[in-house]
Order: sequence, then C-alpha cells, then structure tokens
Amino acid sequence: MRRTVGLVLGTIAAVAVLSGCAAPEPVPSASPTPTALETPTATPTAQSPSPTPTPTPSTPATAAPPQAAEPPAAGDIESATSLQVLVNKRTPLQPADYLPELVSVSTAQDGDETVRPEVDAALVAMSDAMRVDIGEGIHVFSSYRSYARQTELYNGYVARNGQAVADTTSARPGHSEHQTGLAVDLRGTGGVCELDVCFGDTAAGRWVAEHGWEHGFIVRYPDGLQGITGYHYEPWHIRFVGVEVSTAMHEQGARTYEEYLGSGSAPDYG
Ligand code: DAL
Ligand code: ZN
Repeated sequence: MRRTVGLVLGTIAAVAVLSGCAAPEPVPSASPTPTALETPTATPTAQSPSPTPTPTPSTPATAAPPQAAEPPAAGDIESATSLQVLVNKRTPLQPADYLPELVSVSTAQDGDETVRPEVDAALVAMSDAMRVDIGEGIHVFSSYRSYARQTELYNGYVARNGQAVADTTSARPGHSEHQTGLAVDLRGTGGVCELDVCFGDTAAGRWVAEHGWEHGFIVRYPDGLQGITGYHYEPWHIRFVGVEVSTAMHEQGARTYEEYLGSGSAPDYG
C-alpha cells in the first residue's frame, strides 16, 4: 500500500565540507546502464489529482485493450516518479536504476545539467523572482545524476576521506535525491561561496532559504539536523516537492521533509 502525504496536505556549524555534489555533471556511464522505465507525459503534481478510470467498452473484445500505466498519486512518497518521493539513507530510490524524464536546466551554469520538466519551470520562476528581489539569479551547477555517476562520486569521497566522513556529505548510490531529477545544487549568479556552507549567509543563500518554498523547493539538509537527515548542512542543495507541500511545510514550521512526513529520522543506513 502506498504511503501518501495527501491527508497531511489538507490539514494541516556549520562545517565547511565538500559534497558529493561538487563534481561536474556526469558523462553517462556503462555500468550499470540506467533504464528508461517510465516517461510520464503528464506526471501529476500535488495540485493535479489522478485521472479517473475510463469506462469499459460494452462490446466483447478479442484482445485486451492497451492499458496506460497508472501514474503516481499526488502525495505518493514511494514511487520514483512522484514529485513527493522520499529518498534518504533509510529509504533508497526504487528501482535503483530509475531514470526520470529529463530536460535541460535553463538556469544552469553550463549546458550539461538536466532535471525533470516541473523542476526546470520552477527554477526559472524562482530565479526571476530572486533577480527582482536581490538583483541576482540562480546558477545550477549540479542536478540529475545517474546511479553510475553517484557511484563514481561516492567512491571518490570514500577513497579520499574514508567512508564515515564520506557518508556525512555524499549519498551512497541509490540513495541520492539527485537521481530523482528533483534536486539541484545552486549558487547565485554572483558566484559567491559555491559548495560552501558560507553560501547560507550570502544574499542568494538567504533568499533561497526564505523564498524557495514559494516555488515548491525546500533546503533539504538544514544546519544542525544531521541526526534527522543524515547529512551536514548543505544550503546549496534544494529539493522540489511541489508548492502545496512546500507551503504546508512552511506553514507548519517543519524543518525537514522527514519531520513533515513523520517518516522517522534517517541519520544512517540502519
Ligand atoms: N550531497 C547529497 C547528500 C547527495 O550526494 O545526494
Ligand atoms: Zn546536492
């Protein structure tokens, strides 16, 4: 049975570290090869309920009619295709080789970044609003990463710093939100404090933390909450959850997605 946030919606140090988000965007790798499991043409958002089933034909058919794959329900936190999917150290993305529908990031620093279409649209709107407010837009420098690319990054951090340290900044393959196409690492177009906790104290970092929810984003790994999220403070890593969820989190004062969902903390791999 799917767990959802649908009911919730209605009612209700920083240590300067490098992250697994640091490296430039992936060159597709051969092993394992991601499979395009689903390319939804109309992925529902929290604002767009699932369509109702079509009527059954009255005349007998000799062959079963083609059936559209059921899209994930709004608020579904288990399906990889859902905008609200929960991914953390205790909850891997399933299937592990999930490949989302992707488009180029309009607000990217270079041409290699990709995200889900809903995320790109929200990033453009957020960047425009930010530019009006503080005269600086958004530059995305890391976005979708394949399972294979996350493996390379994570293994690199383990080799350099050891697994215990790597696990505080870089997700193990299959556990990174970057593979959902819903998370990006960003900086302001002014370029200050890229991939550094000092980004949280810049005008751009403060603006994103304060206004991201208006565009469907949350700062996924807040300062001092490693015991819940499993990661050090990453003011540059934002996650799209949809405006309805981000607004509810803002109104409730929920500090993390885990807290909002009541899903339990994910400090480690259990
Ligand atoms: N830096 C975040 C946790 C990731 O690797 O997905
Ligand atoms: Zn990130």
